[in-house]
Amino acid sequence: MSQIELLQVGPYPSWDQERLDAHFIMHRYFEAADKAAFLAEHGANIRGIATRGEIGANRAMIEALPKLEVISVYGVGFDAVDIAAARERGIRVTNTPDVLTKDVADLGIAMMLAQARGVIGGETWVRSGDWAKNGLYPLKSRVHGKRAGVLGLGRIGYEVAKRLAGFDMDIAYSDTGEKDFAGDWTFLADPVELAARSDFLFVTLAASAETRHIVGRKVIEALGPEGMLVNISRASNIDEAALLDALESKALGSAALDVFEGEPNLNPRFLTLDNVLLQPHMASGTVETRKAMGQLVFDNLSAHFAGKPLPTPVL
Ligand code: 8YV
Repeated sequence: MSQIELLQVGPYPSWDQERLDAHFIMHRYFEAADKAAFLAEHGANIRGIATRGEIGANRAMIEALPKLEVISVYGVGFDAVDIAAARERGIRVTNTPDVLTKDVADLGIAMMLAQARGVIGGETWVRSGDWAKNGLYPLKSRVHGKRAGVLGLGRIGYEVAKRLAGFDMDIAYSDTGEKDFAGDWTFLADPVELAARSDFLFVTLAASAETRHIVGRKVIEALGPEGMLVNISRASNIDEAALLDALESKALGSAALDVFEGEPNLNPRFLTLDNVLLQPHMASGTVETRKAMGQLVFDNLSAHFAGKPLPTPVL
């Protein structure tokens, strides 16, 4: 084991934990009751942070670690890392792109199908005895052949669109510009226009200050009472207050969400709604993908401390 000390901001599966513990001195911040005291005790020696996409590392944390050199994120999204604070100090930042793309797209499709066809309610209908007692399950809405919008045709958006094409859907997308790999998918620069021509709107944008609340009241209203919003990106891309209002008033038909403001403590208004499917931020959560993500977290840290090029740098 090297004497290199790392701050571990969130938990990892046992296979990742064992490998990290075998190579570094891991300080488990997430287990500390008194976080400030923990940083005061260990902060001076910490040279790296191992964190998770949804937790990141804020400015206060970065500033509490005078010897910090590298932040390794278990996730493709690094919006929770204060990139400006890292850049000011020349701290390297890494993430885990590509390895999770297809799993995230798969879950987006599963959420669309589950919500549109009432899969969760159907399961309850059987288990509760409603099938035998009350008869046929209410009819649901068709998926194949409908109009789909993809907001953000990056790696994940592209995989989502490819899968939607398999359902014979009429596909459009919004991004900062037209993509040459988009084939016959329709480009619409304005997210409101995209929503207006969509039955299903997928939010697949990398989150940043610029994309904050890009799905606002106007986009939600344009999607309308028959439309479904699917979010497998970050909560900050959607104006959650506007979304809740629209779900409650039925101005929006339904939503399927994997991410929430303040998760895992989501707004309790979501829990009373029957037109929203709620998932616990698990789009990349397969054993295969999480193993690949954990390997990348480790490989980036090892490369950094060995003075080698970083496999997947952000900064
Ligand atoms: C992970 C994610 O669930 O990649 C991301 O940005 O949000 C997810 O893959 C998360 O980062 C795990 O901590």
